[in-house]
Amino acid sequence: MTAALYAYLFPTAASPSQFAPPKLLFSSKFSQIPPHFSHLSTRILRTASRPFSVAKLQSVSSMAEVMERVGSVKQQLQRLFGEALRDKFPDELDIVPIITPCKDLRHGDYQCNNAMSLFAKIKGRVPEFKKPQAVGQAIMDSLPDSEMIRGCTIAGPGYVNVTLSTEWMAKRIHKMLIDGVETWAPEPPVQRAIADFSSPNIAKEMHVGHLRSTIIGDTLARMLEFQNVEVLRRNHVGDWGTQFGMLIEYLFEENPNWEAAPTEAIGDLQGFYKESKKKFDADSDFKERAQKAVVSLQGGEEKYRKAWAQICETSRREFDKVYLRLGIKLEEKGESFYNPYIPKALELLSKENLIEESEGARVIYVGGITRPLIVVKKDGGYNYASTDLAALWYRLNEEKAEWIIYVTDVGQREHFEMFFAAARQAGWLPAEEDKYPKVSHVGFGLVLGEDGKRFRTRATEVVKLVDLLDEAKNRCKAALIERGKAEKWTGEELEQTAEAIGYGAVKYADLKNNRLTNYTFNFDQMLNDKGNTAVYLLYAHARICSIIRRSGRDVEELKKVGTVDLAHPDERVLGLHLLQFPEVVEEACTNMLPNILCEYLYNLSEDFTKFYTNCQVVGSPQEISRLLLCEATAVVMRKCFFLLGITPVYKI
Ligand code: ARG
Repeated sequence: MTAALYAYLFPTAASPSQFAPPKLLFSSKFSQIPPHFSHLSTRILRTASRPFSVAKLQSVSSMAEVMERVGSVKQQLQRLFGEALRDKFPDELDIVPIITPCKDLRHGDYQCNNAMSLFAKIKGRVPEFKKPQAVGQAIMDSLPDSEMIRGCTIAGPGYVNVTLSTEWMAKRIHKMLIDGVETWAPEPPVQRAIADFSSPNIAKEMHVGHLRSTIIGDTLARMLEFQNVEVLRRNHVGDWGTQFGMLIEYLFEENPNWEAAPTEAIGDLQGFYKESKKKFDADSDFKERAQKAVVSLQGGEEKYRKAWAQICETSRREFDKVYLRLGIKLEEKGESFYNPYIPKALELLSKENLIEESEGARVIYVGGITRPLIVVKKDGGYNYASTDLAALWYRLNEEKAEWIIYVTDVGQREHFEMFFAAARQAGWLPAEEDKYPKVSHVGFGLVLGEDGKRFRTRATEVVKLVDLLDEAKNRCKAALIERGKAEKWTGEELEQTAEAIGYGAVKYADLKNNRLTNYTFNFDQMLNDKGNTAVYLLYAHARICSIIRRSGRDVEELKKVGTVDLAHPDERVLGLHLLQFPEVVEEACTNMLPNILCEYLYNLSEDFTKFYTNCQVVGSPQEISRLLLCEATAVVMRKCFFLLGITPVYKI
């Protein structure tokens, strides 16, 4: 890499050999970057500060090549239009190019929407521009040459419509097939993030709300990981608090010999919890003994600690059954972990004069909310909020997380807003909510039953998640057997396919909805093989795989000898859709909305169907190119499945 290019990319580093990855905790660190270039260089710098990216960038020799390699189609257009805007309007350096895909493909593939607002800004000042159209025209005329663009037109009040070069699109798809879909990963927004999700409470049931948190949190973590963000997946289990006094005391009294067979003593934890709660509410002496037990536990008394650990372990085994079925990776760092950090965190908040006394408790008032955030209870104990504040301090300072996302039901929104605000007032987080380090509460709605009420199964009050997943799998298995698969497949194949489809269906039914809305849990709907379901999509993928298999061709060989061609309009529509994959992941991730990715996946399969209906693949003169297009579709579909935590099936 030349010295000039180096300085352009890493303005803060003295020379290549002295290049040290910058610490990326606070975005203010990038203040030295010239403003006209800050957007681009910040992003490249962030990417480049990871060792592999430095290597990747150092191996290229020209700026054009760097630009070519980094980012989605949309980002590349943003750069080109950014250049045009800077060139034509050097006094308006704060303008960010607004690029969106065209809704109607007859107008173009993408459009630049800056002309109107820019016109409003410069109107009168720059007499040359009498109408927004003229601004659009000027932007278009200043657009640098690029092989990715076939042509542009001006429409309406100055929209610049861009038609991509079909050859360029085809080449990019072919390149992805050779280099892997990972090369399409969007630029990472940060280096390290924390996803706090699932987080059930020990000894209580893990309910469908936790299932939603698990499914949504896992997908968001996967999307970030795809962008090369290091994600610390945290299970913030409720493993601390006064309920443990009650549980432990009950255990000691009902099962004095519990240590001999701990699993049996605690066995049915939920039943155990219910019984102890009954006694707690009915027997005031027991209540008092339970409260003493809390003190003994918090004081670290061996016997109490042991019982606590045993209860947690029993609970963990139950949770793990769900995680195993769903293929979820999580690292448990429960509430108890942050306990030792609470005093220090509160001291820091105190120093900022944020904590006051109120009716015997210690509280923080945050702007705009009359109800205070209690951080030390009347009895001197800590609570959910003090734990979350300590955890936030730990995550920012010890774990150096730049983005922390918390996935819980919307009912907890206020709790998060309040402790986020307290952290902002204390200066732990930047005042602007969109600056890094950043915190986001990812809320979601309820899961409803057929009766429109909170989801429950039959007689039991709560849904046993494991049973629910088993039922999904069993129904799929029955459907596969009905289709005659038991005779054709091995037992293992049948099991694995039923699992992939059954669990995939449960996940997809959840993820395809905007997370903020409530959704109805309905097996018949989610297991339907028509419509926007995982079953339909998994079948669609398997069908593409079978087209390729039946062609008798070796795809690896085709990638080497063939090229992709998008001459037919339906090939081009499909190709464009494939190219939009990176920006869709980025959008889904930025807005923390997995349904955006689901919608993309569903539309992809629709575009594929149209292509397959109108373009003969096997036996046509375009067979090789079309098989490559089938393969590219299958690759992108699989990546979508992977990001949604769904295991693909290859035959059906
Ligand atoms: N255990 C909590 C619950 O079941 C969720 C914890 C979410 N994470 C957090 N850091 N507060 O509602």
